[in-house]
Amino acid sequence: MITRVALVTGGASGIGAACAERLQADGLDVLIADRNAAAAEELAGHLGCGAIVADLATREGCARAVAQTLERAGALDVVVVNAGYQHIEALSAFPEDTWDDMLALMLTGPFLLTKYAWEALKRSGNGRLVYMGSAHSLAASPFKGAYVTAKHGLVGLARVAALEGGQYGITANVVAPAYVRTPLVAGQIADQARTRGIAPEEVEAKVFLENTAVKRMLEPSDVAALVGYLASEAAWGVTGSVQSIDLGWTAR
Ligand SMILES: NC(=O)c1ccc[n+]([C@@H]2O[C@H](COP(=O)([O-])OP(=O)(O)OC[C@H]3O[C@@H](n4cnc5c(N)ncnc54)[C@H](O)[C@@H]3O)[C@@H](O)[C@H]2O)c1
Repeated sequence: MITRVALVTGGASGIGAACAERLQADGLDVLIADRNAAAAEELAGHLGCGAIVADLATREGCARAVAQTLERAGALDVVVVNAGYQHIEALSAFPEDTWDDMLALMLTGPFLLTKYAWEALKRSGNGRLVYMGSAHSLAASPFKGAYVTAKHGLVGLARVAALEGGQYGITANVVAPAYVRTPLVAGQIADQARTRGIAPEEVEAKVFLENTAVKRMLEPSDVAALVGYLASEAAWGVTGSVQSIDLGWTAR
């Protein structure tokens, strides 16, 4: 049997790292692409997968991530488009450069990775595009203008990729988690407390779990299990969809 090859962006930390571990455990040949060289190489050494150092907010970085995957593994079947970060600020004060950077990484980057990976995914016959969206792909929150805009945009991108890719066996879906216990979320606690006027220790209950039916934080491995399914050949019929894993947040 031919081993399937997966590229996981932002794979050095949090959800991306859990996806890399999961796909590797499922028997795929995994490469992670991240701008954090030290963390990427450490995780790659630990998992026995490949690491590519790239700034995925740039055209050059996205092109290199795909080119190096093909060079090293000879094929590309699954792209988990995951790298992202958060900035919390009212729209009226949102720094323009931060807005540009966030959209470059979280909206233009996913388009570029899709474009550059397309021919390899066609050759696969079972290509998988899994975009890491968010509950903020479907709903908004204050102070997250660039993030919500980018995550909503991924839904449009996935739907177009699904329509164009269907004839080649390519599926494209958005995974939409609520808050997941990762370094990204830990880094929001102080800003959330400041912008909402609450104590840092109140943030988990009053912000992260405020609108959820289930009052328990998701772990990266919970999201990775869903990504593992979408990346599998068994998920051939799931495409153009938003897969919520949000503790019931968007059910109301
Ligand atoms: N943690 C959550 O609660 C949560 C919820 C919903 C969606 N998400 C999404 O999941 C994804 C991963 O989030 P996480 O919580 O695991 O974050 P994280 O901060 O733990 O990991 C993000 C990774 O992306 C990398 N990265 C950032 N900018 C990059 C760039 N320009 N080029 C290459 N790599 C870059 C970082 O180095 C890091 O390794 C993001 O897209 C995020 O929006 C997270």
